[in-house]
Amino acid sequence: MKKLRSAFIIHLAVYLLCFVVWIPLAAADNHASGSAVSYYAQIVPILKRSCQGCHHPGDPNGDLIVTTYADLTHGGMAGEAILPGKPDESLLIKLISGDEPAMPQNQEPLSTEEVELFRRWILEGAQDDTPAEVDALGDGNYPTYTVPPVVSAIAYSPDGSTLAVSGFREVLLYDTTNFELKARLVGKAHRIQSLTYTVDGEILGVAGGSPGQFGEVQLWDTTTHTLIKAIRSSYDTIYGLSFSPDASRVAFGCSDKTVRVLSIADEKELVKFDNHGDWVFGTIFSTDGSHFVSAGRDTALKLVEVDTGSFVDDINSSNKGYGEINTIARHPTKDQVLSGGEDRIPRLYKIFREIQRDVGNTDFNLIQAYEAQSGSIEDYAFSADGSRFATGCASGETRIYNVVDGKRLATMQGDAVAVFAVSFHPDGKQLATGGFDGKIRVFDPASGKLLNAFMSVPIEPAGSEDVALVVTGMT
Ligand code: HEC
Repeated sequence: MKKLRSAFIIHLAVYLLCFVVWIPLAAADNHASGSAVSYYAQIVPILKRSCQGCHHPGDPNGDLIVTTYADLTHGGMAGEAILPGKPDESLLIKLISGDEPAMPQNQEPLSTEEVELFRRWILEGAQDDTPAEVDALGDGNYPTYTVPPVVSAIAYSPDGSTLAVSGFREVLLYDTTNFELKARLVGKAHRIQSLTYTVDGEILGVAGGSPGQFGEVQLWDTTTHTLIKAIRSSYDTIYGLSFSPDASRVAFGCSDKTVRVLSIADEKELVKFDNHGDWVFGTIFSTDGSHFVSAGRDTALKLVEVDTGSFVDDINSSNKGYGEINTIARHPTKDQVLSGGEDRIPRLYKIFREIQRDVGNTDFNLIQAYEAQSGSIEDYAFSADGSRFATGCASGETRIYNVVDGKRLATMQGDAVAVFAVSFHPDGKQLATGGFDGKIRVFDPASGKLLNAFMSVPIEPAGSEDVALVVTGMT
């Protein structure tokens, strides 16, 4: 351990030395030749070393984020920190120069050469010269896999013809008659966390993102298999996508503890609800689309009005210690929400309360608590007619229940390790599961019999040469 650490320190020292030596040299070089200051090669390294620690998305001091060009030029609390062409009027220059520079706060000031780089870069128009991202995937180039990825989301299309399955950077579409792969939808988001079709089946909504970089909602045309639009939101993977009943809006949960509602047509953020205490994993709209319900790690099930973005009610009793909520699902036709997670008990609630809450915080909205599952609950699916629901559990088990009398109808092994996704075929005659072992299993919900099992992605033989991108397990 000690050895490792000293090796690391030497590396770090060499690395820092490179910066110290290289930057002034580069500055001198450029000055001599008169070439423009490069944002990508010269400004970004200084921002990363001296500014990013206090100006990143997780903790943006002064509301200023410097991790992307767009954020840096957007500015902070005081407005734009950079005025292209006018270094002396730019707040950033004022704060990093002078006798006792305010920034970087409580640290060694930047060197005269570094300040000069910022000044010249702004004078020259503060351009972004970041090279375009080279992407080997898309346009017929698909990810290749030597091991199956964890399946985090699956969904049957409303017409029952297609089963959509999450992969790495892609969604795979399977024909539900022969389970052959019929299309692959490759996007930018590395992780896919949620798949949802609009009621009419015309759009497949995909939510996910690339951890620490961006969250993304992708909307795919289900006829042409083309991307209609990709909307980025927050700085991390997003969860629990839902469409409003008229498919004009989407809601999703974020790891920054917010729930966001976007208008699809103009991509405007209509609601940014920040009344949760932890990551939000699930969202659903009420049957008329006027409200949404959100839930997550903070154990709360919250009701919010969409138009005003205001909090209306805590649906569950927050003082019961039910544990983190991993998933919620709305009854297909009623204003009822099924919630589940850490404490393994599925609970069905009325979305809108009918009785005033008492001081004892009684669980008034609760319609029914069902039998405890064999592991924490990871996903739910209602049958299209709303008579049954299925659970997917961290134990690998999947069960089917009658909604009304709570009777268990079937018990199935949905995954060797853990089930993360379940979906009912609209005709009620198939139930598909996906999870940790990367296999899709299709069951007969009536008998619990396994009808089919197949790998969620095509697996390349190990050592194959023409591998564009090899995915090794969970990313
Ligand atoms: C140790 C933490 C820290 C570091 C490092 C740091 N800052 Fe700051 N910065 C702050 C804080 C805190 C504020 C908020 C204003 C204040 O309280 O002084 C701020 C505010 C700012 C603002 C004003 C934003 C606004 O609109 O109000 C700018 C511009 C800025 N910093 C630039 C930089 C630059 C450029 C660097 C790197 C060279 C840097 N900061 C490094 C902590 C830091």
